[in-house]
Amino acid sequence: MTGKHKEQAAPPVRAVRAGSFEHALVLETARVTEGAALAASRWVGMGDKNAVDQAGTEAMRELLSSLDIRGRVVIGEGEMDEAPMLYIGEELGRGQYEVDIAVDPVEGTSVTAKGLPNGLAVIALSERGGLMHAPDCYMDKLVVPPPAAGRVHLDWPVEANLAAIAQSLERGVEDLLVTILDRERHADLIRRVRAAGARVKLIGDGDVVASLAVGVRGTGVHALMGSGGAPEGVLSAAAMKCLGAEIQGRFIAEDDAMRARFAQMGVNEHKVYKTDELAPGNQIVFSATGITYGELLNGVRRFGGGARTHTLVMGYATRVVRFIDTVHLEDDSARVIIRV
Ligand code: FBP
Repeated sequence: MTGKHKEQAAPPVRAVRAGSFEHALVLETARVTEGAALAASRWVGMGDKNAVDQAGTEAMRELLSSLDIRGRVVIGEGEMDEAPMLYIGEELGRGQYEVDIAVDPVEGTSVTAKGLPNGLAVIALSERGGLMHAPDCYMDKLVVPPPAAGRVHLDWPVEANLAAIAQSLERGVEDLLVTILDRERHADLIRRVRAAGARVKLIGDGDVVASLAVGVRGTGVHALMGSGGAPEGVLSAAAMKCLGAEIQGRFIAEDDAMRARFAQMGVNEHKVYKTDELAPGNQIVFSATGITYGELLNGVRRFGGGARTHTLVMGYATRVVRFIDTVHLEDDSARVIIRV
């Protein structure tokens, strides 16, 4: 070649594996959580958590069924005999991509019914076997941002984990803000985090959105600690994997019936499960749309004739993280002025 500039090799085009569903489904999945959030948003602040959940679930199921998938629900609204829709094992769609589905049509039903922050519609999809089929129990959780991934352990004392997180974020323990569900069972954890010098953000509900906030820089929170729902832990794992952050979880058996369920499902009560074990998939799509306002996503904002949604949707293999701000014009006859 002539001239003083060397020829630059063109950057490789990322190949999408044959049969890969991520590419085809990322935006479609965002449409599903948007639809669930829009439906549930009609019930925000109305004091009826069953109505919130029903609206979100019906919309999510209908939209999921319209995707080009042959899906199987692995985390859903409950067992077949206790949930009419999106129950564990339900098969959805007649399309080409075989996927496992984890859903929480309304994560934070109580806060949504009260009009409080952190209501979320959330979904994760993976190839078959890519999301752990977790029992509906509590899980002890530790969620840390990308720089601290691989540098903490749920078995360590909380003080050691705080020190490791602070070091990985190049700051002091007193600069950390740790999110913990405001529950009596966390009294000792909260006391120890505070005694170590870190600050605590107590939340009423919604540890999936709280995990998302830990996985994204600039939200002002640096870890999530304490126990919450195990299904929420798997959903969070799908998201943390896409973000390069980490969740570790230990399943909690509160009684012998749950211990028997663990044995049946092959769950080890004493093991600390890492992100990759909770969400082992090579292809993962994660989508969350805010229903009520949260630290990461706006809630659904309604105006005459439509609404605006805010969604985080990600693909693990395709390595995309999209924040999508969408205006939905619901009423054909309305004269709508779009704002930036
Ligand atoms: P729902 O969506 O079922 O209302 O759950 C909200 C939630 O706060 C989760 O985010 C969390 O994992 C779990 O409940 C905690 O359970 P508990 O309220 O029993 O402490």
